Amino acid sequence: MDIIIGSDHAGFAAKEYVKELLAQRGLSVEDKGCFSEESVHYPIYGKAVAKAIAAGEAPRGILICGTGIGISLAANKVKGIRAALCHDAFTARASREHNDANILAMGARVLSLEQIKEIVEIWLDTEFLGGRHAERVAMIEED
Ligand code: RB5
Repeated sequence: MDIIIGSDHAGFAAKEYVKELLAQRGLSVEDKGCFSEESVHYPIYGKAVAKAIAAGEAPRGILICGTGIGISLAANKVKGIRAALCHDAFTARASREHNDANILAMGARVLSLEQIKEIVEIWLDTEFLGGRHAERVAMIEED
């Protein structure tokens, strides 16, 4: 599996759009839900995707809620997860180059589909720079 994806109801439509983008890139995707615009609780989906990434089921995940805030907060409670809430090309690139983010979080009520496309493409195409950043990323897991 290449990407594990999840959203709450506010991110459902954007999640379906992102799944199309990923399919066009030939990536395999597992969808952890939700599966409609019926109101649900974002921590369920944030943690489901985060636990799957932490377990090694895929190298990277994508999460979407209304703001991206709640679902990223929930994901970041899982050890080993670095969920980055990205708003634009700059934060998408930096989250990979500097933070080695293994989950991209976005807000469907904040971003247009065009902005989401740009963020997803940059995030997928950008590698971690390592070096001094690797030491800092390692420190995130320290008590
Ligand atoms: C749902 O109404 C909304 O609270 C949720 O999608 C998210 O924005 C929470 O952080």
